[in-house]
Amino acid sequence: MSAKDEINLSNIPEHIAIIMDGNGRWAKEKGEHRIFGHSSGVESVREALTAASEIGVKYLTLYAFSTENWSRPQEEVNALMDLLVQTIANEIESLNENRVQLGIIGDVSNLPESCQKALHEAIEATKHNDRVTLILALSYSARWELTNAVKKISQDVANKLISPSDVDEKLVCSYLATDGIPDPELLIRTSGERRISNFLLWQLAYSELYFTDVFWPDFRKENFFEAILNYQNRERRFGLVSEQL
Ligand code: IPE
Ligand code: IPE
Ligand code: MG
Repeated sequence: MSAKDEINLSNIPEHIAIIMDGNGRWAKEKGEHRIFGHSSGVESVREALTAASEIGVKYLTLYAFSTENWSRPQEEVNALMDLLVQTIANEIESLNENRVQLGIIGDVSNLPESCQKALHEAIEATKHNDRVTLILALSYSARWELTNAVKKISQDVANKLISPSDVDEKLVCSYLATDGIPDPELLIRTSGERRISNFLLWQLAYSELYFTDVFWPDFRKENFFEAILNYQNRERRFGLVSEQL
């Protein structure tokens, strides 16, 4: 029996975020170059996206490249950027067939022109799709996002567009890259690492965290469904006591 059959379809997270980790170690175990791990991870992205779509998850956010990842060897950074351009160009048709809308969060201006162009085209081509929104976190870090938000809020205060007393949680949310997107109920991280690595620090405030030892290139639909099942067995109390729920 598949984990999918046990999933309670009336309690599906609306938004799932994934830290896709372990490509390098997966490749190393096979005696291959790290880059082979990254290209093999593309199939896992398809699997996660299909699984999300099958059970009605509305938003899937994938951590694809962090601000810190810019400091990796240049060869690896270049290969990741090339892979991104190629994958996006190859997948547009399938995204449209599956009614997937593409979005991005991150400091896109840092990406090579070719990537920005491919992303812009894919976002434009998929903007009317309404089944799932796939959000790629690219050149993203939560501290970048929060610093940026503070900067923009201060500018708007200085320009008298808002006053300091207007600043509340809702306003802060509207200055984040995820404006309009609900917080993830569930965060999945693969590869056995148990940390956040500068991902969605504000938005994960009350998310359930799920860690699996599976390396990202081995991640399949079944692994995704197992994470959902695990999530469904948790009690989300939000500071209350059980009896109040
Ligand atoms: C995740 O896999 C992909 C990116 C960070 C781009 P890694 O490349 O971090 O793989 P490991 O963690 O070194 O195995
Ligand atoms: C986090 O993975 C970033 C992405 C998955 C894109 P890393 O492999 O870069 O994180 P650390 O270095 O283990 O914290
Ligand atoms: Mg890693």
